[in-house]
Amino acid sequence: MPHPDADKWNAVYLASMHVRNEPVRVLKDHSYLLPKSGTALDLACGTGVNAIFLAQHGLQTFAWDISEQAIKQLRETVNRLHLNIHTEIRNVIDMPPEVETFDVITISYFLERTLMPYIINALRMHGLLFYQTFLKERVDDTGPTNDAYRLAENELLELCAGLHIVKYLEEGMIGNVANGFRNEAMLIGQRR
Ligand SMILES: C[S@@+](CC[C@H](N)C(=O)[O-])C[C@H]1O[C@@H](n2cnc3c(N)ncnc32)[C@H](O)[C@@H]1O
Repeated sequence: MPHPDADKWNAVYLASMHVRNEPVRVLKDHSYLLPKSGTALDLACGTGVNAIFLAQHGLQTFAWDISEQAIKQLRETVNRLHLNIHTEIRNVIDMPPEVETFDVITISYFLERTLMPYIINALRMHGLLFYQTFLKERVDDTGPTNDAYRLAENELLELCAGLHIVKYLEEGMIGNVANGFRNEAMLIGQRR
């Protein structure tokens, strides 16, 4: 049975309302941390801009999303650019990643708290998690209106307490909010 959220997201992608062209900043700004080879997962990938970046970096990349429309668009890009990306229409809540299967996992703008132990366990030893998503504390109204899909202060740190924290950034409302990294938190963690 298709997940009730799939239709909502299919409509979003059909209308091209949520197509990002750039990989998420936590990944793009720290690509020097990526291993030269191995497996990578873009979880809840949407049209897969992070997956494309990981595959172009030389990683054997997997991209999963509940939306058939998002995966269809990603498959078109994969074929056009001859990329090594295994795409899958997959409900990650029902079918989380298996234990110790990935060297890199990226998650952007998706938050399902119950999944966190599975995500951490899905990393191989020394594997890296790159996570970036919305905070409740925000300077404008980008992102979901439902605060349940947004992080509380330092919550991402707590959710990733099982990892060695390589980097964490959350600037909240401190100082001049016209500048800086606002509305979101980013974390890079390593399994040790
Ligand atoms: C805000 S979009 C982010 C997409 C992508 N990560 C990005 O940064 O552009 C959230 C994505 O989560 C996907 N999603 C929602 N629930 C899901 C689930 N249970 N399993 C897999 N994907 C899911 C949606 O289809 C949508 O593509």
